[in-house]
Amino acid sequence: MTYSRIAGTGGYLPEKVLTNKDLEKIVDTSDQWIRERTGILRRHIAAAGETTCDLAEQASRRAIEAAGRQPGEIDLIVVATTTPDQVFPSTACLLQSRLDIHGCAAFDVQAVCTGFVYAMGVADNSIKAGSARCALVVGAETFSRLLNWKDRTTCVLFGDGAGAVVLEASDEPGILSTHLHADGDYASLLQVPHGVSQGYDAMQENAAFVEMRGNEVFKMAVNTLGRIVDETLEKNNLRKSDIDWLIPHQANIRIINATARKLRMSLDHVVVTVQDHGNTSAASVPLAFDAAVREGRIKRGETLLMEAFGGGFTWGSVLAKY
Ligand code: UT7
Repeated sequence: MTYSRIAGTGGYLPEKVLTNKDLEKIVDTSDQWIRERTGILRRHIAAAGETTCDLAEQASRRAIEAAGRQPGEIDLIVVATTTPDQVFPSTACLLQSRLDIHGCAAFDVQAVCTGFVYAMGVADNSIKAGSARCALVVGAETFSRLLNWKDRTTCVLFGDGAGAVVLEASDEPGILSTHLHADGDYASLLQVPHGVSQGYDAMQENAAFVEMRGNEVFKMAVNTLGRIVDETLEKNNLRKSDIDWLIPHQANIRIINATARKLRMSLDHVVVTVQDHGNTSAASVPLAFDAAVREGRIKRGETLLMEAFGGGFTWGSVLAKY
């Protein structure tokens, strides 16, 4: 049996930092409100002209280096993004060209904040099925481009960034299981209600923004993430105490705390980057993962639970032995 294992991780954040104090000058908000309701202190914002592929490229190069691989060894590229550079080609194809990789399958996955978990599921299954042996899995977003800077209920929450993982074929697992779910009936609670097929005029200023019914999304996220934790543990016959690290989607510290409580995990075994990154959508889980690996907190052999919840609604988890 062939499994996939995590060979290396990488992350990249754009240079510009936007603090809560900076936001106080833009919308009717306060550092105190943002801290207390979300845990966010600052977020990174892509420079004018800096694209999702730019961020993805930096994160990917770092992940490939950490894996001890050469770009030419990559035989599958999956990029999770809600904010592609172009309608097409996919950001994965643009990234493939940047990395001077030729011929392997490359495509984008769109599951908003759950995108990276979906991309890991797809890549893991490709490796298990024998159709790839070395996959580059990326979550990359310039979510700031979708923000209405006059809407205080959304613009304080999000940030830009990219995270990447190299998965390679292995005789030992690796990825123990992936769990992917969606329910499109909840589309209207968290959405950008414009798109190409509706005749969206991309040249029209301020046309496509994130809209969120935050409180309803919050409650669904807490309940759903609790269920996905149970599902993942049951499938693997594990107890809560078997999990060494929770690597949650970084939307709100209160949601993260609720999932940690459910797992009876102390917060020093939960990777938390929301204070520095805000919600970077598909980039949030791999950015948090990479930060903890590079700080030397997550060690080889430990059991990791990644989980995410986002627009769609979509939700899912990855259980892995690092
Ligand atoms: O990543 C995908 C999944 N996304 C999420 O999981 C996000 C889920 N939702 C949340 O994290 C939270 O619901 C928010 C952080 C978005 C909002 O926190 P909340 O505790 O649910 O606040 P609320 O929406 O119930 O609003 C409370 C009050 C309102 O004022 P009133 O009606 O009580 O007078 C809002 O107008 O806070 C007000 N408010 C703000 N005040 C200052 C909303 N945004 C702001 C703001 N600054 N930025």
